[in-house]
Amino acid sequence: MDVLRASVYDYPKYYDLLYSPDSKAEFDFLRACFARHAKRPVWRLFEPGCGTGRLMAKFAAAGYQVAGNDLSAKAVEYCNARLVRRGFGPTASLGDMADFRLPRKADAAFNTLSTFRHLDSEAKAQDHLHCMADALAEGGIYVLGLHLTPRGERTCDDEAWTARRGHLGLAVRMWSIRLDRRRRRQRIGMTVSVYTPLRQFCLAGELMLRTYTAAQFDRLLARVGRFEVVQTYDFAYDPNRPIRVDSETEDVVYVLRKRRRREKMG
Ligand SMILES: C[S@@+](CC[C@H](N)C(=O)[O-])C[C@H]1O[C@@H](n2cnc3c(N)ncnc32)[C@H](O)[C@@H]1O
Repeated sequence: MDVLRASVYDYPKYYDLLYSPDSKAEFDFLRACFARHAKRPVWRLFEPGCGTGRLMAKFAAAGYQVAGNDLSAKAVEYCNARLVRRGFGPTASLGDMADFRLPRKADAAFNTLSTFRHLDSEAKAQDHLHCMADALAEGGIYVLGLHLTPRGERTCDDEAWTARRGHLGLAVRMWSIRLDRRRRRQRIGMTVSVYTPLRQFCLAGELMLRTYTAAQFDRLLARVGRFEVVQTYDFAYDPNRPIRVDSETEDVVYVLRKRRRREKMG
């Protein structure tokens, strides 16, 4: 099989097919979070690192006003084409989630699949959280899902799954190549084997993600001082089963509520 050295992020059609099966569970979970944890009606949404907009499109179809940004021009183009095809505005823009401003504040924002870990320094993570707090209206929430690095053994270092749509078949494998706890970096390998009637090839790429223990994430939030954690869940996306995060936790969805200005100062 031919091997192309490339990131699946540059192949939005394949990316979208690989991650779409999870979208319904995330969508239902996020709606439950908005209803339970936001202290305002949720109508206007923002997704930093929106990728192909698999979630934005679902929310737009459900009547929400959606916007997002992403560093990948191909992902933004794919996302906007889908929104326009379905009769919505092209509200994804090319941008950095650590450096943006919204023209109108959102009621809620969401960021799943460890996208936040793409920010490769503490400074960028802080900048991101400040941008997010500025982007949210009073009482708004930011639902942020990421894999944490537990203190002991990790159990989910290798994942593989397949997806099919019509004549297109995909098989993906993701694995941890190296975890450097001291420098807080995890190198992750990813291969996507693509099967079509005319061609078969493999995309082989790597991701470098920043690592967080639960304590490191807590310290980051405390330093930024703009959010309170109002609930924590895991990647089961069950709004009726919150979890308690400790040093062994591996996957977590934080529901962060923007602090009021007075709370921040005090
Ligand atoms: C795991 S994908 C998630 C995409 C989408 N949120 C989803 O749930 O399907 C991560 C995305 O983050 C984008 N990304 C990485 N660093 C970024 C940054 N600094 N600002 C904006 N987007 C970024 C990538 O281009 C990629 O589309």
